[in-house]
Amino acid sequence: MRTDEPQAIHLKDYHAPDYKVFEIALDFVLDPAATRVGARLRMARTGAEDAPLVLNGEALKLVSVALDGKLLAKDEYSVDAEHLTIPNLPEKFVLDIVTEIAPEQNTLLSGLYTSKGMFCTQCEAEGFRRITYFLDRPDVLAVYTTRIEADRKLYPVLLSNGNLITKGDLPGGRHFAVWRDPFPKPCYLFALVAGDLGRIEDEFVTMSGRKVDLKIFVEHGNENKALYAMDSLKRAMKWDEEAYGREYDLDIFMIVAVSAFNFGAMENKGLNIFNDKVLLASPETATDDDYGRIEGVVAHEYFHNWSGDRITCRDWFQLSLKEGFTVFRDQGFSADMRSHAVKRIEEVRALRLRQFQEDAGPLAHPVQPQSYISIDNFYTATIYEKGAELIGMLKTLVGDETYRKATDLYFARHDGQAATVEDWVRCFEEASGRDLSQFRLWYAQAGTPVVGAKGLYDKSTKTYTLSLAQTLRPTPGQPEKKPMHIPVRLGFIGKSGASLPLTLEGENATGPEERVLELTEASQNFVFVGVEEEPILSLGRGFSAPAVFAVDHSPADRTTLMAHDPDSFNRWEAGQTAARAAMMAMMQGASPDPLYVAALGPVLDKAMEDMAFAANMLSLPLESEIAMAMPVVDPDAIHAARMGLVKTVAAAHRAKFAELYAALGEDGPFSPEAKAAGKRALRNACLRYLTAEDDEAAATLAHRHYLSATNMTDMIAGLAALTRMSSAKKDEAFTHFHDRFAKDALVLDKWMGLQAGSPRADTVVRVRALMEHAAFDIKNPNRVRALVGAFSANQLRFHAADGSGYALVGDVVRKLDGINAQVAARMAGAFETWRRFDPARQALIRAELEKTLAISGISSNLFEVMSKTLA
Ligand code: ARG
Ligand code: ZN
Repeated sequence: MRTDEPQAIHLKDYHAPDYKVFEIALDFVLDPAATRVGARLRMARTGAEDAPLVLNGEALKLVSVALDGKLLAKDEYSVDAEHLTIPNLPEKFVLDIVTEIAPEQNTLLSGLYTSKGMFCTQCEAEGFRRITYFLDRPDVLAVYTTRIEADRKLYPVLLSNGNLITKGDLPGGRHFAVWRDPFPKPCYLFALVAGDLGRIEDEFVTMSGRKVDLKIFVEHGNENKALYAMDSLKRAMKWDEEAYGREYDLDIFMIVAVSAFNFGAMENKGLNIFNDKVLLASPETATDDDYGRIEGVVAHEYFHNWSGDRITCRDWFQLSLKEGFTVFRDQGFSADMRSHAVKRIEEVRALRLRQFQEDAGPLAHPVQPQSYISIDNFYTATIYEKGAELIGMLKTLVGDETYRKATDLYFARHDGQAATVEDWVRCFEEASGRDLSQFRLWYAQAGTPVVGAKGLYDKSTKTYTLSLAQTLRPTPGQPEKKPMHIPVRLGFIGKSGASLPLTLEGENATGPEERVLELTEASQNFVFVGVEEEPILSLGRGFSAPAVFAVDHSPADRTTLMAHDPDSFNRWEAGQTAARAAMMAMMQGASPDPLYVAALGPVLDKAMEDMAFAANMLSLPLESEIAMAMPVVDPDAIHAARMGLVKTVAAAHRAKFAELYAALGEDGPFSPEAKAAGKRALRNACLRYLTAEDDEAAATLAHRHYLSATNMTDMIAGLAALTRMSSAKKDEAFTHFHDRFAKDALVLDKWMGLQAGSPRADTVVRVRALMEHAAFDIKNPNRVRALVGAFSANQLRFHAADGSGYALVGDVVRKLDGINAQVAARMAGAFETWRRFDPARQALIRAELEKTLAISGISSNLFEVMSKTLA
């Protein structure tokens, strides 16, 4: 909380720390109201002799400071709201700092806090300074010893990073444990947990034959819900050995699930802490998407042990060094566990929905930002998902083998270091012998490039000239852009659907049926020879770059690609493009494109061959995806067009949907695996179309689907269909669901989210009412995201013309800022698309933004998001 205007931090101002910390010994005496933290730092000066030591600290009560065993007098140091400054220090010294903190008051959930009676920590990015005074920056690496003392009955489990050294009982019903982590680490990877927790245990034998104890800690009673996470962990450990040659290094690896958590999970060395939402699963409580997410996040945090912990970031401008790479690693894992084709579609869908949106708005920033006010605001889709796409492009450019050489080099060279994006790129240059200067622009320039393509076929010479052109629009602070190095994977399809070879002019052998062109100029021509017929261009296969591939296909060409493109991603893409074009035309008064509707026939005929893929082919672009293609977004028109197309498709293929739906019923025991999940996805896609109308027949089917479901995926599908309906069956089912899961907060989150996503006109009123529901708690980020986050993703109702949706989200953001500024700023991101709406809506949003910016004591997090959004 502050009254002065928050200041930006710039990458260009980076300088190495003046002091280093070799070792830190922490001593916690835990108490929810007043925890005493002792910190003994063994330090040395590395900078100028007269450089004072400036330690970060926030919301701390300083009890004492001692230098080499002697208490310092008040005039020998100074303290302000964010620092402890000590001048005149010797070259080597030991500092003893004692502070006091109040974990139960810590609603920001950064630092040490309590959640459902347990203690836990979250230190990334800058939470450690809320525990003790320290050089809270990732380039200060130290060895940690942590002693924890607490009431034995209330907190029987005491955990920290590394290995357990000793534990024992103390007088007065108390006990203690001492942990030591031999790997030097930055303080953002510190973790502590204390509580009364249940556990499951397992083990893993590494490739060199070392046994590692695996433990997952959860609330008592939830042990069985952690089994899938444990299974995922073991598969992830094995995969990282095989795919990247990475072996685990400590003798123990622990995961703890907590209920109040600001985001997904955290890779603290040897002690990952998870939001329970991405850890706990059972067939009755978790959907297939939940299972997939748990598998992915468990892997992600585990993979950080090498890409994050052993090699960390020099400063927070390098955040994508660990996050982009680790996302890329977890995506590779999930694809290997499930389906490469379906995984790629899901990744691209998420990227476009969140990252392209970010790149197109006022919060656009490069994968390596140049400045920030609050680093918490930069845990974005650009840093994570676009960062992962950059790694994927590097892999495409250098090839699989060289990719592995480059990552081996990176791990070998930078192990134990705080590295930079530049270090990373240099490993690729050395491993491949290629000059990646231009590729570096992907890290430096924000925005989504558009790759336009025009083909000219000359029948007489059988040549095809492909002109590719790239454009990149200005983004905040970057008015001028340079051409990027874009890998463009492509193929040619003949009218009959057969692939044609791609032979470039000057080549004497017939070329392959797919190749990667490298677009490096603003525009470039590629001449193909021996092209027997005019090809249909299949561009950007596998989504070979985070760009918009703009090809002007005719509706007939699109349906050919939908049916015949050997690249499954582009088959799906052709369908999405066709559907979007159809809906855009419908908004201009056209009737639904009969070619597109008919093209879904063969999709349905082949649906049983790959059910998960078919489910994706059948799902129309979301309303917000359609919005991205419109110069001025009209949420009501988009909704109407999409509903219209759903109904037309439903009517055209009704018999086939019914037949598939009947054939795909649940058989045998539940399996969370890809094949079974794909079957459920296809059946639920059919249900979507069979419940297209708002009538009693549809409501009855949806209700029966819900009631007969034996797993959460199917229950949700039934309920989701009902949210659109006026039938009394809707409330009946929602009440039934509520009562059935009244004790399970994570499941009630789904119940709230479904209601917040309803297209019905009373949704705003319902959401306001749900904020008063006993299960809602503004202090728990999962509840806020489930209800308010889901509402702001409901384009139709959030953007209601009367401004009621904006007021709702604005009210929550303003209230939340004083409680949890990180989550408030995240929720405020809902307004980032505001300039793409009509003037009346813009005026309503502007009023919300200004009102929010004016709140007294606004956090720097929210200040940054609001001021940049308004700029
Ligand atoms: N490093 C964590 C991960 O695995 C996320 C930390 C997010 N921190 C934050 N301040 N938002 O992705
Ligand atoms: Zn991460």
